[in-house]
Amino acid sequence: MVDETKTAKLTIDGDSFELPILSPSAGPDVLDIRKLYGQAGVFTYDPGFTSTAACDSTITFIDGGKGELLHRGYPIDQLASQSHFLEVCYLLLYDALPTAAELEKFENTITRHTMIHEQMVNFFRGFRRDAHPMAIMVGVVGAMAAFYHDSTDISDPQQREVASHRLIAKMPTIAAWAYKYSIGQPFVYPRNDLDYAANFLHMCFAVPAEEYQVDPILARAMDRIFTLHADHEQNASTSTVRLASSSGANPFACIAAGIACLWGPAHGGANQACLEMLNEIGSTDRIPEFIARAKDKNDPFRLMGFGHRVYKNFDPRATVMKQSADEVLELLGVENNPILAVAKELEAAALADPYFAEKKLFPNVDFYSGIILEAMGFPTSMFTPVFALARTVGWISQWKEQISDPALKIGRPRQLYLGETARNYVNIEDR
Ligand code: SDX
Repeated sequence: MVDETKTAKLTIDGDSFELPILSPSAGPDVLDIRKLYGQAGVFTYDPGFTSTAACDSTITFIDGGKGELLHRGYPIDQLASQSHFLEVCYLLLYDALPTAAELEKFENTITRHTMIHEQMVNFFRGFRRDAHPMAIMVGVVGAMAAFYHDSTDISDPQQREVASHRLIAKMPTIAAWAYKYSIGQPFVYPRNDLDYAANFLHMCFAVPAEEYQVDPILARAMDRIFTLHADHEQNASTSTVRLASSSGANPFACIAAGIACLWGPAHGGANQACLEMLNEIGSTDRIPEFIARAKDKNDPFRLMGFGHRVYKNFDPRATVMKQSADEVLELLGVENNPILAVAKELEAAALADPYFAEKKLFPNVDFYSGIILEAMGFPTSMFTPVFALARTVGWISQWKEQISDPALKIGRPRQLYLGETARNYVNIEDR
């Protein structure tokens, strides 16, 4: 429970109102304005939610000043180096690190839910071959509600559990098949003898014509990328999932809404936009030109993969991702990748520039991830689907937390209305 002893006083036109201040276990105090409109007849105004806590949560905490990211209290750098993605999934879902027996049971469950209903293959075939994989993911994940009716009743904890497992398990298959469809190759079915990350790489890169051995170091790097993207407080796509689920929509529809929101270049689409930007820069001698554009108020260009609403020091995920980029590219013998050189030079130039320092802009999780994914063989169009695959557990964990809250109300923001006040209709002959 939060400590509600502190209050704030608000005075409007001579009238005073006491507002409770809620003290969290970490992070800033929260001014509780739930009764404000009823008491004072005023709304608060915060279009980008820069100062608004939309919910309470116990799942993930970010300290933007310290560059700290905790999942159920465990720092992301420890989870990235000592844990693995399915264990992090268990932690996010159940608020505890699993025992060996619990982890084995959970991994077996996920492994045995990786196939999708065979009839869903028809959905993929309905898309053009050049459809963006995110368009396919939004469509196919939303369509899961038409196939898995036995896990859409959100009032039933058992159905919520099954839906959670199905979504985590099937997302790699859906993402991999979206990729295979886009390159005209046959779908590769999941294999129960492979772990989660290796299975995804196998479904993406194996072909029926020959054996495909997943490189364990690439599988480890893939698994780490999943962990680094698992959850991130109330970001735009998670807030979309929460708002959708507040109406009682089924979990598949809510996750499809989250995928749609993540697609945007200001959010999960930044990893694709960042690599496209690095390729456009092309060589280190063009970096000053792009730095100047990013600083030019009249130029809409922004450095993709740079900046963050919450991190005002550094994004701890980017630090781990940068280390992983060096490892993977060296393993693949492409450590002299010119794009990696551009990325590192661009990072150094931006961080040395007062503009970026003043605005506290630095690489975020999307800056280096694309370099690794491209080196692994993924096209840029697959970068955001990988992000969506990994973030599914975060969306689902936040969805479960909200759905199981008995005090849940439908989300219904108000507005600052600046339009016309009431006026009478004018017949067309009088206009
Ligand atoms: C993700 O929320 C999350 O947690 C998201 C995420 C997650 O895990 O869910 O971390 C994943 O979305 C990471 C962010 C990926 N997006 C990008 O890399 C796109 C490029 N970055 C931005 O567009 C921007 O930095 C945002 C969207 C990330 C944050 O935007 P904010 O917090 O609304 O900041 P802002 O747009 O108000 O910018 C503040 C100032 C502005 O200048 P002024 O108007 O004050 O003069 O900084 C400038 C901006 O112009 N600025 C940039 C910049 N980002 C902000 N200038 C140049 N290049 C940039 N990248």
